[in-house]
Amino acid sequence: MHDSTGVEENFVPVDLLATPNYLSSKKHSININRNRILVILILIPLIVTVLGLITGLLVPRRKLHEISSSECFEAACPESWIGFQRKCFYFSDDIKNWTFSQRFCDSYGADLVQIETLLELNFLLRYKGPYDHWIGLSRDLGQPWKWVNGTEWPNCFPIRGGGECAYLNDKGASSARHYTERKWICSKPDIYAQMKRQTLSDLQSHRKRQKT
Ligand SMILES: *[C@@H]1O[C@H](CO)[C@@H](O)[C@H](O)[C@H]1NC(C)=O
Ligand SMILES: *[C@@H]1O[C@H](CO)[C@@H](O)[C@H](O)[C@H]1NC(C)=O
Repeated sequence: MHDSTGVEENFVPVDLLATPNYLSSKKHSININRNRILVILILIPLIVTVLGLITGLLVPRRKLHEISSSECFEAACPESWIGFQRKCFYFSDDIKNWTFSQRFCDSYGADLVQIETLLELNFLLRYKGPYDHWIGLSRDLGQPWKWVNGTEWPNCFPIRGGGECAYLNDKGASSARHYTERKWICSKPDIYAQMKRQTLSDLQSHRKRQKT
């Protein structure tokens, strides 16, 4: 009697050879192994491609989303306007009278510049160069200075001269008759300040509606 451990690997028991299915079942198992390898060879590149496609689709989209939600790349001011402290400023190349200058600013949803802080005044004086520029202050002769919106101006800095319209020169502010021609500066809130205003006014009208 043979010990089962002594059996050679290639030894095929005669009675198994006699069973007609033995060899074909061995062939079958070789086929299964070959199929597995084929499946793996096809599946791995397929999975890699699909993963690549998914990440390829997702990653740039996420990056674009990050960029578009970042303040760095969004223009807060229109082209050829200059942003400073949540406002946009336009310095003209043309010279025109005060009336025309204000009308020009108005057509861009702006006004002749309304200087609200010392920082802003210093920015304007530095940026305007050596030229005179109209600003958004005017008066009826003998009356106090008023902003373009009609609010009285609190005399934050001296305005020289006896004219009814104010402008910035290289020393500070002065005044002249409205029909004389100068460069001008327009200003308006930048888009973030506009959005904030919009939200505030939406909130206010919402509260009013709730009260009534
Ligand atoms: C008019 O403009 C000035 C300067 O921008 C501002 O301080 C003031 O609140 C404005 N007044 C009204 C009634 O909008
Ligand atoms: C102001 O300038 C405009 C355009 O140049 C002109 O049509 C208008 O008559 C001028 N107004 C005054 C008061 O000079």
